[in-house]
Amino acid sequence: TSHITLDPGYKNTGATTSAITFLDGEKGILRYRGYPIEQLAEKSSFIEVSYLLIYGSLPTAEQLDNFSDRIRRHTLVNEDMRKILDGFPATAHPMGILSALISSLTAFYPESLKSPQSEEEMDLSVIRLMAKLPTIAAWSYKNSIGHPVVYPKNKLDYGSNFLNMMFAYPTENYEVDPVVVDALNKLLILHADHEQNCSTSTVRLVGSAHASLYSSVSAGISALWGPLHGGANQAVIEMLEAIKADGGDSKKFIEKAKDKNDPFRLMGFGHRVYKNFDPRAKIIKKSADDVLSALGVKDPILDIAKELEEAALNDSYFVERKLYPNVDFYSGIIYRALGIPTNMFTVMFALGRLPGWIAQWKEMRENKEPIGRPRQVYVGETERDYVAVEKR
Ligand code: CMC
Repeated sequence: TSHITLDPGYKNTGATTSAITFLDGEKGILRYRGYPIEQLAEKSSFIEVSYLLIYGSLPTAEQLDNFSDRIRRHTLVNEDMRKILDGFPATAHPMGILSALISSLTAFYPESLKSPQSEEEMDLSVIRLMAKLPTIAAWSYKNSIGHPVVYPKNKLDYGSNFLNMMFAYPTENYEVDPVVVDALNKLLILHADHEQNCSTSTVRLVGSAHASLYSSVSAGISALWGPLHGGANQAVIEMLEAIKADGGDSKKFIEKAKDKNDPFRLMGFGHRVYKNFDPRAKIIKKSADDVLSALGVKDPILDIAKELEEAALNDSYFVERKLYPNVDFYSGIIYRALGIPTNMFTVMFALGRLPGWIAQWKEMRENKEPIGRPRQVYVGETERDYVAVEKR
């Protein structure tokens, strides 16, 4: 194994070529299929960006209508899925439910398990997943509060339909607020793809064994759940709450994060690739101010977050290590202002990342990539003889 190069965490190893997302961590550039994230976040819609990521170019008006209509036709989830949902206790984290129910789609669409898969089947699983994930995501929340599920309303657009499934019951005559829909749209676009991050690499690795798109995405959801990855958005709010409850001294938490004997890290800070700034965090920070003022929300946690950022950016520990706020630092504050409960933040990330996972899975299968199979450098015992139990 002497020829094997060791690269724990794949810090310097490329696993694939890809034509989907370009990222320059030094310059803070992020582009989907060549389009700058700033332009997409400002001008596009999440469904259009999904099309762009999955199919490679911006859709014509007709292509976009067709894509949206096909998704609308598949938003219902098989009624038997309710029985699986009913088996979960109310204490179940929505991410666990999401991953389990997405995996269980294989039971309802066994054709997706065929290898090789026909192009039609692949295409259908893409549409089904885009359509059903929001329904299942909203159901996972309903389970956690013990409420009946709300069925999709297909006259609504993608984001409004999701919000309606989250909040229509028990609010009488619930109307989706356009400020909320716009903010949601922007957040989903900013999360839509991020090249070979942990969950996306998971989706590709699982898919490289020719597992179905549903199983691959279910695995991606599990990876995303971790607090070092998508789970950071929930962890950030919990951290800010803890700072507030402790009297609001952000400096104290900065010292805690610097202490190498303390496992505490500043959540929402640092990134494997971005070493000067995270372009998504820049957009989100501004959006947090805009959305909170448009909704008339005053959240003391936003002030704590700004103080914490300021203190960290002036601290040599963070400067030397090039640690800046990442996409998750301010996103939770917006989600909170939109009425999204904290245990749903990572689910919101999954909703946004879905088209990226799909695009990457599709690209991998279309390029006929080989099965992913990393090597290792063995450091265990050399050969030794078996010893009978009474002699050990
Ligand atoms: N707080 C305190 N110290 C930190 C932090 C932090 N948030 N992040 C990194 N460091 C230190 C780390 O201890 C190490 O110090 P030293 O060189 O003295 O040992 C140095 O900075 C380099 O860190 P690393 O862990 O080697 O860097 P990495 O590239 O492996 O990790 C990271 C990247 C995002 C996992 C890490 O920065 C982190 O744990 N951040 C907090 C969790 C977080 O916000 N995650 C969301 C990432 S963005 C959304 C997404 O796409 O998932």
